[in-house]
Amino acid sequence: MRQPMVIANWKMNMTLSDSEEFVRRFTAEDVGGGGVEMVICPSFIALSALSLLLKETSLLLGAQNMYWEKAGAFTGEISPLMLREIGVRYVITGHSERRTYFGETDEDVGKKAETAFAMGLVPVICVGENGEERRAGKTKEVIGRQLLTAVQALHEEADWRRLIVAYEPVWAIGTGVPARAEDAAVVAACIRSLLHEKWGEVAAAVRILYGGSVNPDNITEFTARPGIDGALVGNSSLKPASFAAMVNAVSAERRG
Ligand code: PGA
Repeated sequence: MRQPMVIANWKMNMTLSDSEEFVRRFTAEDVGGGGVEMVICPSFIALSALSLLLKETSLLLGAQNMYWEKAGAFTGEISPLMLREIGVRYVITGHSERRTYFGETDEDVGKKAETAFAMGLVPVICVGENGEERRAGKTKEVIGRQLLTAVQALHEEADWRRLIVAYEPVWAIGTGVPARAEDAAVVAACIRSLLHEKWGEVAAAVRILYGGSVNPDNITEFTARPGIDGALVGNSSLKPASFAAMVNAVSAERRG
């Protein structure tokens, strides 16, 4: 059984005090959330303080990025050891904004995923086609290249089982125009079948999320699909009530 999850990707939003206020207000929300894993990915600045605050809650912590070396002369980068020490569990790798604005390549994503597992973190590998690639009918080709390069250095079955892949079509991110749930389900199935070809039955354990303009009103259109195990959410995760509503919606949908 794959546990459903909702991940909040706050991107470059929320100061430290905003982040702390979010947690205080979120814990005051009526979140049943039964069975749904809840993860918050704040800025690096807020991670350490939130790791203390979250101890009293069932929220888990993720980072939005990391470097693939443990330590050294890499000015401005954050090491997986630093993340692990403060209780970070997940790390987003290969988000389209990192690929587009910061030149992150498929190979970089692969190195980050490998190091994340080696350091006891779980990578959330993001893949997704842009609008032009979609119109050219290249979605599967793009997803295949991104995914297979990112997982090529993962050799441990225990890691395969814990891997999380987020399908995030670039054209749907931050636009208010999500993918159609049926189309997202087709791509999710394609991702699972690529992993199945590589890893066999273990692919059934991998959690596959959808991301791109998810909100409390549409989240269950995605999570109701058997191959989609949750969502990676940007804008709609910035308000405690909205994040709580998404978690509750997924929880209710799963309970049927
Ligand atoms: P969005 O962002 O929900 O604001 O579209 C999703 C993401 O980038 O992960």
